Amino acid sequence: MPKPVSGFSKKSKAEKVQWLVETYLDNDPDALATLRKYWNPDTEVQKLHDDFIENTLTNYYLPFGIAPNFLINERLYALPMVIEESSVVAAASNAAKFWLKRGGFKAEVISTQKNGQVHINYFGKEAHLSTFFAAIKPKLIDSIAELQKNMQKRGGGLHSLELIDATETLEGYYQLHATFETLDAMGANFINSCLEQIATTFEAEAKRFTPFSENNTYPEVVLSILSNYVPECLVRAEVSCPVDMLDDSKIDGNTFAAKFVRAVAIAKAEKRRAVTHNKGIMNGVDAVVLATGNDFRAVEAGVHAYAAKDGNYTSLTHATVENGEFRFWIELPLALGTVGGLTSLHPMVAIAFDILQKPDAKTLMQVVAVAGLAQNFAAIRSLVTTGIQKGHMKMHLMNILNQLHASDIEKEKAVTYFKENSITHSAVEHFVETLRN
Ligand code: MEV
Repeated sequence: MPKPVSGFSKKSKAEKVQWLVETYLDNDPDALATLRKYWNPDTEVQKLHDDFIENTLTNYYLPFGIAPNFLINERLYALPMVIEESSVVAAASNAAKFWLKRGGFKAEVISTQKNGQVHINYFGKEAHLSTFFAAIKPKLIDSIAELQKNMQKRGGGLHSLELIDATETLEGYYQLHATFETLDAMGANFINSCLEQIATTFEAEAKRFTPFSENNTYPEVVLSILSNYVPECLVRAEVSCPVDMLDDSKIDGNTFAAKFVRAVAIAKAEKRRAVTHNKGIMNGVDAVVLATGNDFRAVEAGVHAYAAKDGNYTSLTHATVENGEFRFWIELPLALGTVGGLTSLHPMVAIAFDILQKPDAKTLMQVVAVAGLAQNFAAIRSLVTTGIQKGHMKMHLMNILNQLHASDIEKEKAVTYFKENSITHSAVEHFVETLRN
């Protein structure tokens, strides 16, 4: 049974690795070799990675791929995608190619406001708190003058600050609800610094407010933090074309459109389908969010909350056929940055931004929304026609062959053989074994 370790963060990397291998990896030399294989000692890249997080021991690589041919608002893009799942990049590329011939994607940023709250306990008279807030609001805003000087110079900063009475949801619960414009920065640090300063000023001023001291009912700050729910930072992406342009060799346009719209309707009606449907969307969204050094956990949390905004978890995409026109669109809340944080530090992110022709945050929002829409289009297209397993297993075949350490010749033979035969892990294993014998 391992024992707790103290002073771990102070150990050198070599000591940490040694401790880990001894304590949890049975002193396995292969484990040690793998940890070493994935780190690049004495390189600039490693120094960077070491500093991104704490206790970095090595690196965990994900594939960085490209989906070309995305026509978005009349401009051609190749999307950088970081993802471990096979078929996702192929699906994005297929959808891009499909829509390239049908007018491409249109995308539009609807709003760009972010928000955060100072969460407060207060059990005194509501009127005292609102009088106090009205009186000190200018001071609260003044107190972040220095913090938001640069942001304001560029046209951003605090947008509004309101006291919200949330006692109907939780006894004694109030908020200072703040909205911000953070331009090309995702803005988490900026927003959190502003909120913490507002909270400090709020509490200091409260100590001097007579009605609170007379009744001994000082408001108390519980916590201050941005919200990753950003329904006011919204982007829409869309594709459309006449139904008869949807004809392809597999299916005629009318049948396809009807099945497609029905598939989206099912995802709207049924939570179990909606979650998987939206997961497919996030395959595209997360892959571009990751490639561009943005916070995919924030995006995931915000997007799924948005999918449940009307009380029911539902599809993030919508599809209609009206007057012979097929329309398919998505609305996503996306708080993304193209400056600051990892976006300014990671050399691969710099490459991703170059590939995307140096987008600003609004353009990146559009590109990411398109990635989600394209992914969903490709998934539904497969699902209502051939099913996803055919294409998926073809890609998965390579993963299985790699697991079996197949040589190039074995891979080539396997690819030919499994064009005509169904792919399962055991079938591939058996095929490779037979070749080897
Ligand atoms: C797999 O990663 C994603 C799909 O399941 C999405 C969907 O079902 O719509 C194919």
